[in-house]
Amino acid sequence: MASRSIIITGGAGFIGSHVVRLFVKKYPEYRIINLDKLTYAGNLDNLKDIQDCPNYRFVKGDICDYEMVRALMAEEHVDGIIHLAAETHVDRSIVDPFEFARTNVMGTLALLQAARQYWESLPERYEGKLFYHISTDEVYGALELDCPDGRDCGFSAHKVYGTEFFREENKYNPHSPYSAAKASSDHFVRAFHDTYGMPVVVTNCSNNYGPYQFPEKLIPLFIINIRHRKPLPVYGKGQNVRDWLYVEDHARAIDLIFHEGKVAETYNIGGFNEWKNIDLIKVLVSTVDRLLGRAEGEDMGLITYVTDRAGHDLRYAIDSRKLRDELGWHPSLQFEEGIEKTVRWYLDHQDWLDNVTSGEYQKYYDKMYNNR
Ligand code: NAD
Ligand code: DAU
Repeated sequence: MASRSIIITGGAGFIGSHVVRLFVKKYPEYRIINLDKLTYAGNLDNLKDIQDCPNYRFVKGDICDYEMVRALMAEEHVDGIIHLAAETHVDRSIVDPFEFARTNVMGTLALLQAARQYWESLPERYEGKLFYHISTDEVYGALELDCPDGRDCGFSAHKVYGTEFFREENKYNPHSPYSAAKASSDHFVRAFHDTYGMPVVVTNCSNNYGPYQFPEKLIPLFIINIRHRKPLPVYGKGQNVRDWLYVEDHARAIDLIFHEGKVAETYNIGGFNEWKNIDLIKVLVSTVDRLLGRAEGEDMGLITYVTDRAGHDLRYAIDSRKLRDELGWHPSLQFEEGIEKTVRWYLDHQDWLDNVTSGEYQKYYDKMYNNR
């Protein structure tokens, strides 16, 4: 296997830490450089088990710092970038859209320009190089929930709640400042391919869940709140639908696409696993109760309907058949198994939770919740 030198941005975050771990362990002949600013969402505790591996290096830095990125690429002879660093929480983007434009748009542009300058300075230019941009299904906008009771569908193991799906050729139609910034970054990545010939690939994934997710996102937040018998703030009527994928399955897809994906292609990644928020929340309550030895469902009373998220997208549902049919990827875990593993992980890692939720985050959360 040829050696590679790869920068993974945002490797101290939720998905990034799973990608870094997978690459460091699976490819000892590769050099993996984790470039992360360590914002509130980045945490080196997520990578304790691999931090001393000889093929791993952590660099604390901001992707917006073009000069630093350019120098790092030359120093490490980088031939691949897997770009995950971003501001990622929709609610925060509604409060502070500037930070989302800065990191997600300008940061991606700085990385692209640094990669272009460095790779174009080499005799072989773009040969053997790849800029892999990790994006989201939210760029496609929102789908109708035109089958509210759910229906069977030929390609999904779980029932689906509508007739339309996000496909690779769909037009972009982002609604939140977060998704608008991600959409803009996707356009820049494709523009660098079309204008300069940079080898790029873009993937758009659905909602991830699993260990090490910052507990402002639905699943970890609600697991903690159920444990501590705090209210569960359900936005609107809880009818919004999301398509959930276990994070390690996303990391496996990234590995496969990095090595076997076609340059300039887009691949949608999804779990074939749609859930209405309220149904998912009830599964969480039952699972936490059972694993804590409480009567199953005794904490349903914590469910509290609160003011809806502004511009709340109704339904996301990915059609990831292109990835399945062309590269043979499919999710490895049934949702029930993934949720059980996830709930157990958060219940067993109170120290990790205490660490990431102390101080500033708690103040932010109290303010967000009290404003609803
Ligand atoms: P996260 O919020 O958990 O982690 C983001 C990481 O990026 C953190 O480690 C943070 O420190 C780092 N970061 C932020 N700004 C930075 C900067 N300016 N320079 C360097 N590092 C910086 O994010 P996540 O949920 O793991 O998402 C990772 C990527 O996957 C994002 O691009 C996101 O849009 C995309 N995505 C996420 C999901 C999901 O469900 N979480 C689904 C689809 C796509
Ligand atoms: O679809 C992919 C996206 O999934 C990623 O690009 C984003 O980075 C990631 O944050 C996620 O976005 P969502 O907005 O879907 O995730 P979140 O966990 O914030 O919310 C999931 C659903 O639950 C959504 O419909 C809003 C709702 N919700 C969320 C929170 C935090 C609540 O009802 N109450 C809550 O307190």
